[in-house]
Amino acid sequence: MAEPTSAQIDNVMREDRLFPPTAEFAAQAVIPSAEAYQALWDEAQADPLAFWDRQAQELHWFEPYSQVLDWQEPVASWFTGGKTNASYNCLDAHLGTERENKTAILWEGEPGEQRTLTYRELHTEVCRAANMLKKLGVGQGDVVSIYMPMVPELAIAMLACARIGAIHSVIFAGFSSEAIAERNQDAQAKLQITSDGAWRRGKELPLKPMVDDALDKSPSVEKCLVLRRTGSDVPMREGRDVWWHELAEQVDAECPAAPLDSETTLFILYTSGSTGKPKGIRHTTAGYNLYAKKTFEWVFDHRDSDVYWCTADCGWITGHSYVVYGPLSAGATCLMYEGAPNFPAEDRFWELVEKYQVTTFYTAPTAIRAFIKWGDQHVEKHDLSSLRLLGTVGEGINPEAWMWYHEKIGAGRCPIVDTWWQTETGGIMMSPLPGAIPTKPGSCTKPLPGILPAIIGEDGQPVGENQGGMLVMTHPWPGMLRGIWGDDERYREQYWSKVPHNYLAGDNARCDEDGYYWIMGRIDDVINVAGHRLSTIEVESALVSHPQVAEAAAVGRPDEIKGQAIAVFVTIKEAEASDALRDELKLHVRKEIGALAVPDDLRFAAVLPKTRSGKIMRRLLRDIASGKETVGDTTTLEDYTVLAKLRAEDE
Ligand code: PRX
Repeated sequence: MAEPTSAQIDNVMREDRLFPPTAEFAAQAVIPSAEAYQALWDEAQADPLAFWDRQAQELHWFEPYSQVLDWQEPVASWFTGGKTNASYNCLDAHLGTERENKTAILWEGEPGEQRTLTYRELHTEVCRAANMLKKLGVGQGDVVSIYMPMVPELAIAMLACARIGAIHSVIFAGFSSEAIAERNQDAQAKLQITSDGAWRRGKELPLKPMVDDALDKSPSVEKCLVLRRTGSDVPMREGRDVWWHELAEQVDAECPAAPLDSETTLFILYTSGSTGKPKGIRHTTAGYNLYAKKTFEWVFDHRDSDVYWCTADCGWITGHSYVVYGPLSAGATCLMYEGAPNFPAEDRFWELVEKYQVTTFYTAPTAIRAFIKWGDQHVEKHDLSSLRLLGTVGEGINPEAWMWYHEKIGAGRCPIVDTWWQTETGGIMMSPLPGAIPTKPGSCTKPLPGILPAIIGEDGQPVGENQGGMLVMTHPWPGMLRGIWGDDERYREQYWSKVPHNYLAGDNARCDEDGYYWIMGRIDDVINVAGHRLSTIEVESALVSHPQVAEAAAVGRPDEIKGQAIAVFVTIKEAEASDALRDELKLHVRKEIGALAVPDDLRFAAVLPKTRSGKIMRRLLRDIASGKETVGDTTTLEDYTVLAKLRAEDE
């Protein structure tokens, strides 16, 4: 039978269900109707700079900007000449208003401790931490590497950097010491902040020992500030390591926010690209801050009475934009939870929703699929009637999971915002506005005001309705990345060369007859494992750094919970293929990158299947990994040569 065409595939996948917001929700919404959305979007499209100029009045300006956008493609400079401060916009801006004593952060530790910080209290803590940074010799432009659990001090450390113009580089606490060292080296970090340990499913993760190993290979790091979290005994190196609580006593709690140029680097955040080396995505102060704030208010339909919970870790962009900078600039009350969703039991999230009367809940499809698997009984134990809005991020959501989320968590009442965006975009780019845009399960629906996407075919021309192509942005936006740390050429090449004058997102998409966007997956070798981006090449490089590995190929295969799982094919040198070696290689990847990159399947191959020109046949490997193609010979060393010969012509 002939292969189905992409149009046929699209047809099979077409989703016709439409869920308009309830009249009740729309009546109180920030953007209350399709017409209101359209008017805003049209205004922004007609004159994007005038539109952003109007929005930017909501930030605090120590000095006004003289130009909204200076665009020297592909280098953007937003709000040129102005001076602002993201920490000021998140904290000081609320002092002296009715939000001063409002709860900013509601925190619960995995073992169950609770803390509440009002905007006033958070301001005090951030000022104190900023003075600690100064005391440790950190100044404007210095890079501070942060490797911490989800505790309030993580947000405090980020905001303290922002306050004095230091640049934070948060590294997710699941990465290995090798990965920390690589990022510290690339960023030339001056200070490391960490904690003794972290709680995860009742066990302690030893963060400080991990950092100690990393710092042996991070010569630029001069000091290490250590928060006491678990209370376990950790070695402190004389002259380098300092306890947070001891230093806190030596500084005062006043530290005015520095007036910073709009384009001052606020942070770098490492993410995977299509080559082995992670790239430090660089975001700057004013544009990013404005974009995080406005998108938070629009998409999460922010009201002062909300209790908002984004379950992402601050080690990812979602935690930067929608745990810290967006919600705090908007004056929201944010719940922050340290631990796992299934500790001590699978109902922990729903217990938290009930306990803190959460109104707005933002999580990843991979978590939703896990909840489905764990069973409805965990959900049904709790009263979730405080919820009014649900969101997803990180990967596409399959319509079944969407329907479950809608019915079981949202009781059919809460709109779902499926938010499409990237580390590079700084904030949400496409998403339903919950009071305005009827949702279709599996679609991120429409671009936000000021966002101008297009879908481009291989011939460089826009494609028609319902045809797949490369997703690009045709106009700069304030939250866009300003570059890759230390690699301007890679920035140009990866984002601005394939489709001239357009930002290349790296995703395929189609746009349907109603103007709704459907993301169809990556165009490069990036895989999305549990909502986190990994490059297959990174995993391969980690494997071949093991002395017994001759060659390795990593591919993504579908996984019920994680979206994609990592399958690797390995050829080895002299060693015997064995379960012990398989375990050793998995451990090796854990050591090189971290637990999140450990292959789910590892197969030994006599040779890797290649085309006549020597290219690894990834498509064949993907089919084998996903079980679409079975290998007849199941001896320990699998032989793919026969399959390879059959396929060689069409790879
Ligand atoms: O492929 C898209 C997918 O995640 C990529 C961005 O990954 P990262 O920079 O790690 O940021 C994740 C959190 C913003 C995108 O290129 N992606 C993200 N959100 C969605 C998505 N794919 C489909 N639907 C989404 N809502």
